Amino acid sequence: MTDEDKLLVEMRKILGDAVVWDRAELSRRDPGVDSRNFTAAALVRPNDTAGVAALVAYCAANGLELVPQGGRTGLAGGAATTPSQVICDLGAMNSVEEIDAFARVAVVQAGTPLAVLQEAALVEGLDPGIDLASRGTCTIGGMVSTNAGGIMAFRNGTMRNRVLGLEVVLPDGRVFSDLTRVMKTSAGYDLKHLFIGTEGTLGIVTRVAVKLNPVAAAGATALVGVPDAASAQRIVRHFLGRTGISLRAAEIMWHRFALAMSRMLGIEPGQLPLDASCLLLLELGADDLGAATTALEDGLAAIWEEAGILDGLVATSNQQARTIWRLREETEQIERMHKDPPSFDVSVPGDEIDSYVARLEAGLKAIDPAYAPYVFGHLGDGNLHISINVDGPVSHERHRAIEDVLYSGLRECGGSFSAEHGVGLDKRDAYERYADPVKQELARAIKTLLDPGGTLNPGKIVSTRS
Ligand code: LAC
Ligand code: ZN
Repeated sequence: MTDEDKLLVEMRKILGDAVVWDRAELSRRDPGVDSRNFTAAALVRPNDTAGVAALVAYCAANGLELVPQGGRTGLAGGAATTPSQVICDLGAMNSVEEIDAFARVAVVQAGTPLAVLQEAALVEGLDPGIDLASRGTCTIGGMVSTNAGGIMAFRNGTMRNRVLGLEVVLPDGRVFSDLTRVMKTSAGYDLKHLFIGTEGTLGIVTRVAVKLNPVAAAGATALVGVPDAASAQRIVRHFLGRTGISLRAAEIMWHRFALAMSRMLGIEPGQLPLDASCLLLLELGADDLGAATTALEDGLAAIWEEAGILDGLVATSNQQARTIWRLREETEQIERMHKDPPSFDVSVPGDEIDSYVARLEAGLKAIDPAYAPYVFGHLGDGNLHISINVDGPVSHERHRAIEDVLYSGLRECGGSFSAEHGVGLDKRDAYERYADPVKQELARAIKTLLDPGGTLNPGKIVSTRS
């Protein structure tokens, strides 16, 4: 028996009826958005927390590297594997254990897809208050691990703000159990935050208590053409200041992105107002569709001149609303146009957005006159996604030059070089160059303290080599 066969036998022995896939099986399966997700020696899918703990303890005791995976939708290589590593797949732990409608809290297993939690909460007129394009596939545990943000973060915060309690398997197999489900707790260090946004490097999230919000019964969608982000922000401020309605989305797309998307999606010319340099997608929630639509129309009319609105369309059918959302969300179309284009995910303080985008256009042109960015994102919180119009990967030097254009000055002005996709493997070089050095030292010390053997998702975010 090869070492790899022995490993598989051992895995099956300690985990009973858990699914175990070998390398050959992995090569036949869909690795999700990143081909590196399934280059491991084996995948193990425990059925419960005890199974995760047994797997983690076994790996720690045998010096085996273990990589946790949720929905495999991550965009920074946080779940990427190497040929000697083992995957801990949380996919079998996918039940919504409880929805407490009075306390407005859900307790879910980590492998639960976001859409499953959204549907379960909706039965009670509630919602987890967080939403993103990969909702059907991404999992709550993965969202905790990357501190996911998405469409509603400007209202409800990121995943960190939605988590009340966590259960986590530590790198040595112990279970950290803090499934607090109340809003208020000031009972000492709030250590659950160590596991939020740390991409499974300090522990594997197994269960989560998530805060829920009441949800508006109906939503209306509009696409508005404006000259710039400042104008779009005036519109957003107007809707945020009104009572009786809730602004559920304020997504922005610059013209180059919207045009490329509409061509790729086969949207007929004239079907949507796409001429302006910036497009704002708004979704407004209210008690019924009529009220939401009227509020959207009236609000836009009231702010039209002051905000310098150039064009606008309030969707009159579900299908029209869907087309507007597809324009914004089906971003894999950009990957189809340019194979693996260099892509980035920054947070920019609100008053800097227009000047940031102008600097970006000029800085990229200085690197290569043919370079142009596709820019889109979550206007409400200043999270911009940027892809460059070239096939990737570009050379290391080129990539660094692009990053310098995108990231220089961001931390100083209060922004972030990684808004919601994490650091993983792909942004580690940027992390080392752009994150505060003292923060990096502390992160390394915490990683070493919790995972001295370095077996849990090694090489992601922090490098513990000196
Ligand atoms: C989005 C992903 C890229 O907002 O974060 O579509
Ligand atoms: Zn996003």
